Amino acid sequence: MTFSFGVIGLGKMAQLILRSLLEADKFKSEEVLGVVGQPGSVQRAAKCFSTDFHIVDAKDPRGNQVWDLPVKLLAVKPQQLTQIKENCTSSINSASVQKPLLISILAGVKLDRLQTLFPSHACVRAVPNTPALVNSGVTGLSWGDDVSVSQQRLVIEFFQPISKVYELPEDQLDAFLALTSSGPAYLALVSEALADGAVAAGLPRHLSNTLTHATIEGTVRLLKEKELHPGQLKDMVASPAGTTIRALRHLEKEGVRSALIEAVVLAAKRSRELS
Ligand SMILES: NC(=O)c1ccc[n+]([C@@H]2O[C@H](COP(=O)([O-])OP(=O)(O)OC[C@H]3O[C@@H](n4cnc5c(N)ncnc54)[C@H](OP(=O)(O)O)[C@@H]3O)[C@@H](O)[C@H]2O)c1
Repeated sequence: MTFSFGVIGLGKMAQLILRSLLEADKFKSEEVLGVVGQPGSVQRAAKCFSTDFHIVDAKDPRGNQVWDLPVKLLAVKPQQLTQIKENCTSSINSASVQKPLLISILAGVKLDRLQTLFPSHACVRAVPNTPALVNSGVTGLSWGDDVSVSQQRLVIEFFQPISKVYELPEDQLDAFLALTSSGPAYLALVSEALADGAVAAGLPRHLSNTLTHATIEGTVRLLKEKELHPGQLKDMVASPAGTTIRALRHLEKEGVRSALIEAVVLAAKRSRELS
């Protein structure tokens, strides 16, 4: 069997990326070799795909072939990295013209660590986020040494069907992650709280949730399509002595703006600590 794309770790994120690559015909299913941690996960992972492809567990010797493939996606948890390194038995000569490509989506694992662990590979760090599940994500990419222009193009094409792609210097990836990877959790919390407020003010739960989503979606669209600064939109909505300015005054008094700023800064700091 001739494989050309290896996926090391077939959890939530890898499944999403692989599904979109198969749908976009970037790889045929028979070209893909997937590796999971436990024997029991082979069937479970296979069931998540409509097409069959080869999946083995980490102890299966057939999985070693993954290290000789020209392109691989590394999508295990960061704490599993040491074990992965032990399994890495690449026979590819690191002096060859183009090194095989290793795309890592591991949060907080820096390029210099990847390059030290996998010296025969050209390494890329990718930071996707969960809205990629509905093809509305954003992905940050930082290139390691030795990644060729054609490999860069390939990686960008990988993530484009599920996300907007941003190429960044690696020292900006922590802030990128703090905003975009953690951001859906902040916004989910804000969304839930707003709907709770509407329930407290007398609307039924289902309607409150629906109206919250519609208001958030409509606001984002308005900001983008009219190219408004958020402050302009706030001023448009807040009329003198009206309802909105009273609510805004309360939010300012409770430090909501400052809490959100600090949340992003703290998440970026934590990401730096983890790496
Ligand atoms: N989820 C997100 O929103 C998100 C966003 C951006 C980046 N990331 C990053 O993506 C990575 C994966 O996250 P996830 O949420 O997809 O994790 P996950 O669902 O837990 O998937 C991890 C996968 O790795 C496999 N695995 C474990 N040990 C292995 C080994 N020795 N060899 C090969 N495969 C092995 C697991 O198999 P078993 O189940 O059999 O152990 C599982 O298939 C993480 O590093 C995370 O930082 C996640």
